[in-house]
Amino acid sequence: MKVGVGGNGKDIRAVWFENGVVRMIDQRRLPNDLTIADLRTYEEVASAIRIMTVRGAPSIGAAAAYGMCLAALREENIEKAAKLIKSARPTANDLFYAVDHMLSELKNGTDPVKAADGYAQITVDKCVKIGEYGNSLIRSGDILMTHCNAGALATVDVGTALAPMRKAWSDEKNIFVYVSETRPRLQGMQLTAWELSQEGIPHAIIADGASGHFMKKGVSMVIVGADRIAANGDFANKIGTYGKAVIAHELGIPFYVAAPVSTFDFGTATGDDIIIEDRPEEEITMIGSMRIAPVSSRALNPSFDVTPARYVTSFITEKGILAPSEIEKMR
Ligand code: MRU
Repeated sequence: MKVGVGGNGKDIRAVWFENGVVRMIDQRRLPNDLTIADLRTYEEVASAIRIMTVRGAPSIGAAAAYGMCLAALREENIEKAAKLIKSARPTANDLFYAVDHMLSELKNGTDPVKAADGYAQITVDKCVKIGEYGNSLIRSGDILMTHCNAGALATVDVGTALAPMRKAWSDEKNIFVYVSETRPRLQGMQLTAWELSQEGIPHAIIADGASGHFMKKGVSMVIVGADRIAANGDFANKIGTYGKAVIAHELGIPFYVAAPVSTFDFGTATGDDIIIEDRPEEEITMIGSMRIAPVSSRALNPSFDVTPARYVTSFITEKGILAPSEIEKMR
């Protein structure tokens, strides 16, 4: 992604490998500081995934691949590394997919850096394809809506839900994007809005609860990412996605899910089988170090919700645009 307003600055990925070190944009510090975190062990990579230095399913997958690469380079037990890295977060399928991919590459004797760099590059290539397919759905003048961050930060580069928007903008289509702030960790406001600002793409941040209001006023389509897609097309994405999908259905607004095939989990039959991560209640009751809820109140903080396949118009993948009934083709 280009950083520097207007897309003219330096080119940087969300996560990469350099001189024996895994480097990643520290997403906890955006939008105010563009800081790079350096990780030297697979344990540090697992912790970076857990504490959300790196976020978004495909970027988590690439970070995991680099973590496995570090384990191999340091001649550590790669099965042990795989177990620890997989335990970092439960919902995003790409984490498990990437670790299994690396295990098989390393067992086949592939050079660890080559294998992890290859994984990251394939992730980016898929996003480029998703952008091209998704762009075919967008017309100049369209008003789009997204949720959470499914941009370059979440996918090594380019994005999933944001890829069609970037491509449409670079093709000089006149678009406008509603970015819901995404409670509780504000990925929409802090990450997606930052990415769109860097590219100069017209957008406005809205409160999550304002989505229905703006959809009723006129939205051409909603495009979101996904963390795990079950065999029947139900999918998990950042909390708040389900509500948007239901409102879009009610108003007849197309609802698209942009995700690489690595996010599909054919071993999970339906959305009911997807493990939803519960996160600390302080993410809701505190803003920074300030408590904003009564001391005696508890908070519930599921990180994701599951949207039934019947609300999905199509999945935008690197293999094409598929209706929920067609995803079996990707098995
Ligand atoms: O911050 P996370 O890792 O919990 O958030 C994950 C996401 O960014 C999203 O749910 C996203 O929409 C799908 S991953 C491209």
